[in-house]
Amino acid sequence: MKVLVVGSGGREHALAWSFARSPSVEEVLVVPGNPGTSEEDKVRNVELDSKDFSAFAALVRKEEVDLTVVGPEQPIADGFRDYFDEQGLNCFAPTKAAARLESSKSFAKNFMLRNSIPTAGALITGDFVEASEYIETKEPPIVVKADGLAAGKGVTVARTTSEAVAAAKAMLVEQKFGDAGKLVVIEDFLEGEEASFIVISDGRTALPFASSQDHKPVFDGDQGPNTGGMGAYSPAPIVSEQVTQKAMSQIVMPTIQGMSAEGSPLQGFLYVGLMIVDETPFVVEYNCRFGDPEAQPVLMRLNSDLAQHCMAALANGLSDQRMEFVEESALAVVLSSGGYPEKYETGFSIDGLEKGIDGTKIFHAGTQREGNRIVTNGGRVLSVVGLGRDVSHARDAAYSRAREVNWSGMHMRRDIGHRAIGR
Ligand code: AMP
Ligand code: GLY
Repeated sequence: MKVLVVGSGGREHALAWSFARSPSVEEVLVVPGNPGTSEEDKVRNVELDSKDFSAFAALVRKEEVDLTVVGPEQPIADGFRDYFDEQGLNCFAPTKAAARLESSKSFAKNFMLRNSIPTAGALITGDFVEASEYIETKEPPIVVKADGLAAGKGVTVARTTSEAVAAAKAMLVEQKFGDAGKLVVIEDFLEGEEASFIVISDGRTALPFASSQDHKPVFDGDQGPNTGGMGAYSPAPIVSEQVTQKAMSQIVMPTIQGMSAEGSPLQGFLYVGLMIVDETPFVVEYNCRFGDPEAQPVLMRLNSDLAQHCMAALANGLSDQRMEFVEESALAVVLSSGGYPEKYETGFSIDGLEKGIDGTKIFHAGTQREGNRIVTNGGRVLSVVGLGRDVSHARDAAYSRAREVNWSGMHMRRDIGHRAIGR
């Protein structure tokens, strides 16, 4: 069969690579893809003139694509799946209605409260006076979230009351996030350890991928502003057998059954951001897609056929599937442009991409081909994944490969995996 992957980041490179490993897949198209995807066996990048869903549908018909998988949140929230359904084309991604779990934090919070899914207590309001009065009644820290998609910047974990009030004011009065901040969710701070719990869902049931954890702050020791993720590893030791069982029975299954019962069944990848408090998981956020960079280490460990799993999920047949993962651990280090997540320059020539080391793999994200050079073209540029018998060996493999790569201003965290290794 032929698979189309939509997107251009490290997650999409990992998805395309994983699909290409399937014996049942003869070719993977990626729109637009990146220089890394173009070099994979059985993978071909395709440029589309238009970002209209109709251009994707035309490509799928012309190329006789059997399965389309969408990587990033925005086209999913904009209704990519709904359009493909109308056109009678196979797309594995949540519908716009199901993706409200990610695109609207007020929807997600109300949904969790209605369905008794463990999450922090919260007030949802569009009124600044109500917001500040509520904040005054709370002991900080307190968390203030813009309702809509804000590219990972819409959340403030406020250490003081005045910081929380200022965050609510920026959203509700100063409209810093536009419509995405017309409503805010003000929620209790949960003290625990975070993990990424990603499942594949057919709308009725779900299978968990191997557990993972990412590192959002840009600098070592979890300092500095949050990014999309500076590194990730799998498995995450904090996600014990007991935590997995609770996450499935108290969170994932009630979410999937609740969405179905409310008329918006969720078919696709579901990434639950967990806060684990004394072996009990709470939902911090839902994402209706794979994580980036979690996809890179998790899919490196997947030993079963992703294309088969997605096709089975589209046919509501996940209960017959089994996902298998290699015993080894995998760890991804993100190499980013100096200055990211704020201002940074691009166009620097990248050295050291050629040398392969066994048990490592480089996934591209913000790169571009210029003649016979590969140059930087984004904030997160590459992720280097290492495999090893435990997280610490995977880390050593990833860093020994990452040290071979260089460009002017390159940045990476040196402590990816510290929580797992410290444990
Ligand atoms: P979100 O975009 O909702 O995942 O929030 C971004 C980050 O803020 C999370 O990854 C957590 O580190 C932190 N965070 C969000 N909600 C809470 C909460 N209720 N308690 C503690 N930390 C939180
Ligand atoms: N790594 C965090 C995310 O994909 O949202």
